[in-house]
Amino acid sequence: MALKWWQKAVFYQIYPRSFADANGDGIGDFQGMINHLDYLKSLGIDALWLSPHFPSPFIDCGYDVSDYVDVAPELGTLDDFKRFLAEAHQRDIRVILDLVLNHSSDQHAWFSESRSSCDNPKRDWYVWEDGVDGGPPNNWMSYFGGSAWEYDSTTDQYYYHCFLTEQPDLNWRNPEVKQAMWDAVRFWLDMGVDGFRLDAIGTIFEDPDMPDHTSKYSQFELYKAFRMAKTKEDREEYIPHWEAMFHHQVEQPGVHELMQELRTIIDEYDDRLLVGESEEIEYYGDGDNELHLAFNFPLMRTARLTPAWIRANQEERLSELPPGAWPCNTLNNHDTTRVYTQFGDGKNDAALARLSLALMLTLRGTPFLYNGEEIGMTDYMLDDIGQFWDTPAIWLYNLAVNEVDASEALRLAAKASRDRCRTPVQWANSANGGFSPPEVKTWLPVNPNYAEGVNVAEQLDAPDSLLNFYKEMLHMRKRTPALIAGAYEPLHDDAEDYLAFLRRSAEQSCLVALNFSEQPHNIRFELETSAGRVIFSNQERENEIDFKRLNLAPYEILIVELI
Ligand code: GLC
Repeated sequence: MALKWWQKAVFYQIYPRSFADANGDGIGDFQGMINHLDYLKSLGIDALWLSPHFPSPFIDCGYDVSDYVDVAPELGTLDDFKRFLAEAHQRDIRVILDLVLNHSSDQHAWFSESRSSCDNPKRDWYVWEDGVDGGPPNNWMSYFGGSAWEYDSTTDQYYYHCFLTEQPDLNWRNPEVKQAMWDAVRFWLDMGVDGFRLDAIGTIFEDPDMPDHTSKYSQFELYKAFRMAKTKEDREEYIPHWEAMFHHQVEQPGVHELMQELRTIIDEYDDRLLVGESEEIEYYGDGDNELHLAFNFPLMRTARLTPAWIRANQEERLSELPPGAWPCNTLNNHDTTRVYTQFGDGKNDAALARLSLALMLTLRGTPFLYNGEEIGMTDYMLDDIGQFWDTPAIWLYNLAVNEVDASEALRLAAKASRDRCRTPVQWANSANGGFSPPEVKTWLPVNPNYAEGVNVAEQLDAPDSLLNFYKEMLHMRKRTPALIAGAYEPLHDDAEDYLAFLRRSAEQSCLVALNFSEQPHNIRFELETSAGRVIFSNQERENEIDFKRLNLAPYEILIVELI
């Protein structure tokens, strides 16, 4: 069966505020994105996921939406968006949007109405409850810190927010909410967007009986335990308690029916995509009736990408997928440590970054890259609490200063803060990394390592740069059908230093060998043929190789077609 566009595509996530600032106000915008579409095209990107571009008070950096059918004024106008979409489509680049279903901003007109009185027609659009014994309705916590309930004196009731206080949860059991949100979905689909990345779907419904959670820890204790844990084992001890804490607030009945309903709408349109911010296999539905893709997040939850880790992840993930379902891999996004920082070792970072990309582009499934990773952007630790935007990190700081000294509290907050991976894209070796004019204060500081070669302009001119490596690999993938369509067959299951597997499609079979170590390896593959044609290597190589006598160089990335 012919593959769909989203099965062949490599996605690139744009964080709109940080991508490119065309009007020189220190904030990225649609004109900036338009200006760089040719860059993305030549890089080899097929599709874009935009983090929220809607009007927002920006208390959760855009994930608090105050109008689902408009564009944030600092990013441009609806017309700018339409131009952006048309320009992207002209270049054969698809665009999917971020759809935040679980909650709106407390500044959304729906919520203003809802909170105004108990008999307002929109009262039931959100989750309102009476307090108990002078306190909140139960002991549920917000994912971002503190109680999940906020008292509202206007009506003497509490509203529920799974995330920030400024993000009241919508009540999806109310059919009018669905209708309003499906109208917004159609608004963008009618305009021609190619689909949606669905934010935080696991939290859409809560247990209607609202029983207390039974975790014996306070949320701060858990948060701290996660952030301060020295070993993975230390951390693992707390996972059951974390799960117990949110047990009644996630993955509740009803969410799959809701996804099916959304899928029916999407299917009325031609060839659109739904990808869920969830690793739960269940969202693939039962026979292609929910989401097309769910992220393989477990792959990135490790301090080191070792061959054993990757093999175990693939074995589990691929065997769990329902028949016909398509995998989806990523190693970073706007919520996590950047790939260069996470999987570097401080010594061989450049080599490891290349291996991370090679992995994304050779594993079976649709890869999602994150803006700036192509030049090796790293996490940037803010050193002044006044610079922070990420509200949960500020919350953590305010709690931590009571327990540890201020510099330790700042370090903790900087590490927890998602600001670290959201700094502006570094376009050139000039003030502000070429993102904004020199005299402008950018919304988040630019990582000063733009002056150490981490910028687009210099890397474009340097043949051996990470950027040119991305380009080369992305274009190689397009020409190599086995890497797109092929089945995955692991080889040499016990190899500790290198990962080897086959990708076999009807047209072609390829061997992929990735050496994650600084040791060379002499290896032998028993395949149906002993000869292969090198499709890609980051080493000097003859065109033909012998599978029976293969010398894999340190950190080599080798892709060979079986002939
Ligand atoms: C998702 C987003 C994250 C946001 C949260 C609440 O996890 O990726 O950035 O803060 O949802 O909307």
